[in-house]
Amino acid sequence: MTEKGHLPSHIAIIMDGNGRWAKHRGFARFRGHREGAESVREITRECAKKHLKQLTLYAFSQENWKRPQREIKLLMKLLKDFLIKERKEINDNNIRMTAIGRISELPEDVQRELAITMEGSKNNTGMVLCLALNYGGRTEIVDAAREIAKNVRNGKISLEEITEDTFKKYLYMSNMSDPDLLIRTGGDMRVSNFLLWEISYTEIWVTPVCWPDFRKAHLEEALKEYTRRERRFGGLRE
Ligand code: FPP
Repeated sequence: MTEKGHLPSHIAIIMDGNGRWAKHRGFARFRGHREGAESVREITRECAKKHLKQLTLYAFSQENWKRPQREIKLLMKLLKDFLIKERKEINDNNIRMTAIGRISELPEDVQRELAITMEGSKNNTGMVLCLALNYGGRTEIVDAAREIAKNVRNGKISLEEITEDTFKKYLYMSNMSDPDLLIRTGGDMRVSNFLLWEISYTEIWVTPVCWPDFRKAHLEEALKEYTRRERRFGGLRE
């Protein structure tokens, strides 16, 4: 049970509504993604200032490969530029960058810049910024199940040893705490294959605000709402 009034230590965000933001303004979809990258910068800085343990951002889902090639290419370029340009800011703010998802299937230049940013920030002791890239929640669970099956076959672990705690160790980030708060921008009420295992008891907050408009004031609103909630994890009020 968590008392009301606490700030979340791990926030996960489904950054949705970039396309709609652009469309409302008569811009190409990409302008929405570009402005969305500005929100990523501001929200990351704010969360680090608040000494959050982790911020996990859904930056590219496995399903996003279904988009037109041109949009995918531009998104990958935006991501690469972000990784290069933000390196200094990440280190200045003592942030440790990590990633979850099938990273090896991303374009090589993106993988390279990601590796450099992760390596360069690995000794930072402040907030963890985790980018979900080519990420799918079901795939994460399937990948874990495959590894476990392999280890059972090799005799490294027994069937009895497969518990919720051991299963968690096989997920993409074995030492990641479950998100306390999941924010979704753009107003849709769904989880879109994001962190399916990890959000079992996560508080969800959905805002109609599109991601490119989501800035410090909206984050404060989400945090205020979170602190009003009492988390019982299936238990009863004491
Ligand atoms: C969803 O909006 C957003 C994405 C698919 C990509 C998220 C990418 C960014 C916020 C920018 C770059 C990220 C980083 C980490 C630098 P949508 O296109 O599905 O919006 P719609 O639902 O209005 O069409």
